[in-house]
Amino acid sequence: MSGPDARAAYDAVATAYDAAFADELDAKPLDRALLTSFAELASSGTICDIGCGPGHVTCFLAGRHADVVGIDLSPAMVEIARQRAPDLSFTVGSILDLPVADDAWAGAVSLYSIIHLTPSDRTTACREFARVIRPGGWLLLAFHVDSPEFAVGAVNHLTSWLGQRVELDGYFLDPDDVSAQLEAAGFTVKARLEREPIDGVEYPSRRCYLLAER
Ligand SMILES: C[S@@+](CC[C@H](N)C(=O)[O-])C[C@H]1O[C@@H](n2cnc3c(N)ncnc32)[C@H](O)[C@@H]1O
Repeated sequence: MSGPDARAAYDAVATAYDAAFADELDAKPLDRALLTSFAELASSGTICDIGCGPGHVTCFLAGRHADVVGIDLSPAMVEIARQRAPDLSFTVGSILDLPVADDAWAGAVSLYSIIHLTPSDRTTACREFARVIRPGGWLLLAFHVDSPEFAVGAVNHLTSWLGQRVELDGYFLDPDDVSAQLEAAGFTVKARLEREPIDGVEYPSRRCYLLAER
């Protein structure tokens, strides 16, 4: 699932999600360092925040890079992102069918967005990343690996989140599997970081960050 259900879920929680997460990078120095490094690596050309949500990560990148855009499945999220950063371009679109030409971008980040894709849709997404990122360009992915409640490979089906009724699947992903999907799509994984959750700041999952070159 990542189509009508994910869109409806994120439309429903968009305002609450923004309130909960817009300032999250303040408490995440490692994430800031990764995003700063990414902006330097993909310095020449457009970079896209895919699954940008309310645009707070897009704005962080825009402070470090001259040409940043955002795409998200949820129109409500895109509307909040546009209000946050009227000077940036935000588009409604899906990871599974990105609305840009081949080799359009110098890089893309996609933080906690592939977590909503089925395994076969993740394969499609990796092919789309490879299609739209030019040779020599960069991709930074983040996803949940496991948590006290969920083992790697588990699916968390939410029916209620941030005070709203939703139908939303969240997958806990094996870094080896995602790395293999990226490599099969034409990327070379250049760096892999797994970290523990930050106590009291975020959902208590272990997280993985993959930096890949096209
Ligand atoms: C957990 S939020 C992460 C948002 C943001 N990247 C962040 O780090 O806060 C997941 C986001 O992915 C978006 N999303 C889910 N499925 C998508 C798809 N197929 N294409 C584009 N965006 C999608 C959702 O609308 C939501 O904004």
